[in-house]
Amino acid sequence: MPNENKQINHVAMVGDRTIPPKDARFIEIYIMGQRYKVPETLTILKAMEYVGYQFKRSCGCRGGICGACGTFYRILGDHSIYTGLACQTVVEPGMILAQSPFFPPNRADHIGILDSKMPPDEHIATLYPEIFRCVGCGTCTRTCPMGIDVMNYIALFKRGDVLGGAKESFDCIMCGLCVVRCPANITQMKVGLAGRRIAAAQLIPRSEVTKKRAEQVRAGRYETMLAELGQMDREKLKEIYTSREREPNLSGPGEWMPKDQSHL
Ligand code: SF4
Ligand code: SF4
Ligand code: FES
Repeated sequence: MPNENKQINHVAMVGDRTIPPKDARFIEIYIMGQRYKVPETLTILKAMEYVGYQFKRSCGCRGGICGACGTFYRILGDHSIYTGLACQTVVEPGMILAQSPFFPPNRADHIGILDSKMPPDEHIATLYPEIFRCVGCGTCTRTCPMGIDVMNYIALFKRGDVLGGAKESFDCIMCGLCVVRCPANITQMKVGLAGRRIAAAQLIPRSEVTKKRAEQVRAGRYETMLAELGQMDREKLKEIYTSREREPNLSGPGEWMPKDQSHL
């Protein structure tokens, strides 16, 4: 049974090569049917690079956010199919790996629907009627590397609870692993995305802070600052980045804000 909570140990990257610690232990894994020995501390992504693969696709942020590195695997002697993010999942002995190829999911055009007079709770059913084919197998929930209860957000959308479905799907990183495994051919991640957009456009109250900030942007408040940033050298940019206010508010200007804007 794969260990889902292993920490990712650090390895050094020299140029394009991953250098394991001197005392690293090696395990056997299989990549696209070929057997390799790799340090047991590596993630799938680093293990593949360690044996010579170069990622031109299926890799983006390396931090579990972009959803590009969805991977399927089996463990020798275990009948189950497992899924994980290659950048977050540590290799295990006997792992047989296959990365998920680009998989074009059905994406309904929801822009017209957002502008229509249709009640929000009918939007999803109109855009993605296939959600009613869900057989409740739970495969999507077991597949999700983000631990999202995917089956539940599909059920919420089926019931017309757009806000509930939007909240439940909020952590989705669009890796597509649930879509590949769904026996009903539902594109859960696109359903969730449409639900969050519908909720944002029609159900969630507009933030006054955001509204005020948008007005300031439109009025050109940041033009001078942006022009100044464009002129700064790398060192100065680093300096103001590291000393920046993390959560600037409307009454407290950032340290680098020009004096003539400090009243805002
Ligand atoms: S995998 Fe598909 S059919 Fe199974 S619960 Fe999820 S959405 Fe429903
Ligand atoms: S809901 Fe689906 S697409 Fe989103 S993170 Fe989970 S498995 Fe990936
Ligand atoms: S590379 Fe972005 S989630 Fe793995």
